Amino acid sequence: MEAIDVITAKRDGGELTGEQIRWVVDAYTRGAVAEEQMAALNMAVVWRGMTRAETSAWTQAMLDSGERLDFGGLDRPTTDKHSTGGVGDKITLPLTPTVAACGAAVPQLSGRGLGHTGGTLDKLESVPGWRADLSPEAMRVQLAEVGCAVCAAGPGLAPADRKLYALRDVTGTVESVPLIAASIMSKKLAEGTASLVLDVKVGSGAFMKDAASARELAETMVAIGTDHGVRTSALLTGMDTPLGRRVGNALEVAEAVEVLSGGGPSDVVELTVELAREMLRAAGLDGARDPAEALRDGSAMDAWRRMIAAQGGDPDAPLPAAAERRDILAPATGTLTRLDAYAVGVAARRLGAGRARKEDPVSAGAGVELHAKPGEEIRAGRPLFTLHTDDPARFDGAAEALSDSFAVDGPARNLPLVLDRIG
Ligand code: URA
Repeated sequence: MEAIDVITAKRDGGELTGEQIRWVVDAYTRGAVAEEQMAALNMAVVWRGMTRAETSAWTQAMLDSGERLDFGGLDRPTTDKHSTGGVGDKITLPLTPTVAACGAAVPQLSGRGLGHTGGTLDKLESVPGWRADLSPEAMRVQLAEVGCAVCAAGPGLAPADRKLYALRDVTGTVESVPLIAASIMSKKLAEGTASLVLDVKVGSGAFMKDAASARELAETMVAIGTDHGVRTSALLTGMDTPLGRRVGNALEVAEAVEVLSGGGPSDVVELTVELAREMLRAAGLDGARDPAEALRDGSAMDAWRRMIAAQGGDPDAPLPAAAERRDILAPATGTLTRLDAYAVGVAARRLGAGRARKEDPVSAGAGVELHAKPGEEIRAGRPLFTLHTDDPARFDGAAEALSDSFAVDGPARNLPLVLDRIG
C-alpha cells in the first residue's frame, strides 16, 4: 500500500477501508509514513470527515499501537470518567474517591493542563509528596486495596495518538470531531475500564463552543465506546462559567477537599453527584450507595485520604500557597450576570497555574479566586477576584485578561450545569 493513495482517496471524499486505516496508522507510528504525508491525511479528514466505521477503525488502529491494561480480575466493576476539559474543572478529585466509596473501582488515567484549561495531574501534584507515575501492576494493587487511582498514562498506551496529537497540534488539524473522538477514546479504551462516562463540556471555556458540535463529539465517542464493548454514556455540561470558586492547582485541591468534607460550592457538588450516579449506573451499581451520602458521611473522604497516601502524598500536609496576592475590585453594585470561563482560564495561566507550551513548569499556588458567581450580588469597591502568583510581574497580564470577563446587570447567558445525557 502507498500513503499517497490513502491521502488522495480521502482528499477526494472517499471512505477509507479498515485495511487502509490500519496500515497508515501503523506505518506512521513506525516512521514508514512521513510526517508531511500524515499531516496531509489529517487535513483531508478535517475537511472530508470520517464515517462511523472509519472512526471506529482509526480508534482501533491507535489502540493496537500500544498495550491495553486489563483490570478484569478485580472483585468490583471498573468505571471511569473523562472530561473534555474546562476551567475550574476539579471534578475528578472528589468524584474518583466518591465512586470508589460507593463500590466501583476507578482506574483514572489523567493528563496535564495545556492552554487555558487545567490538568488533573498538575492539581494533584500540589499535594506534598504525591506521585503521578504508577506501573500497571501498582495500579492494579491500588485498585484492589483502595478502589481508585489517578495517574499518568505510561508511554506504552496508544503511542500512535501521542505522535499524531503532536503533529495535529502544529498543523491546524486538532479541530475535527472524528480525530478528537478517536484520540480520546483510544486512550480511554487502552486504560481497560469496563464502563465510561464522558463529560463533554460546552461553552466559552470548552473545546466545543456550541451545543451542536459538543453533541456530535459526544455521540461519536459514545458510538466508539459501544462498538468496542465498553458501556459508554455522556453528559453535556455547561462551561460558560468556571466550575466552583477557585481556579488553579492547590486552590482547586483545597476546594475539592471542602466538597469531600461535605461542603464546597453547590455546582461542584451537584456535578460530582450527577457524574458519580452516571458512573455507578454504567458499572451496573445503580442500586448501590448514594454518592451524596458518601460525601456527607465521610466515606468519600476516607477513600481520598487512602488514595493520596497510596501514591506517596500526605493528605494532612498544608497545601502550597502563592507568594503574592492582589484583589481586583468590583467596579459597580448589582447582580453579576456573566463570568467568562475562557477569560478566567487565561488569567490563571498567566498567573502561572497553567502552561502555554507542553514543557513549561506550573506553579502550585497560582490561580484566581472568584468572590461571586453569576446570579449573585456584588458591591462596588469590594473584591471580585483575588489573584495568586509567585511572580508579581504576572499580575497585570492576568488583570487584563479579566477586564472584560464579567457583566453587572447585563443580559444573562448561562448554560445549565447539565444540558443533556447521551447514550
Ligand atoms: N484531547 C485529546 O486527548 N485529543 C484530542 O484530539 C483533543 C483533546
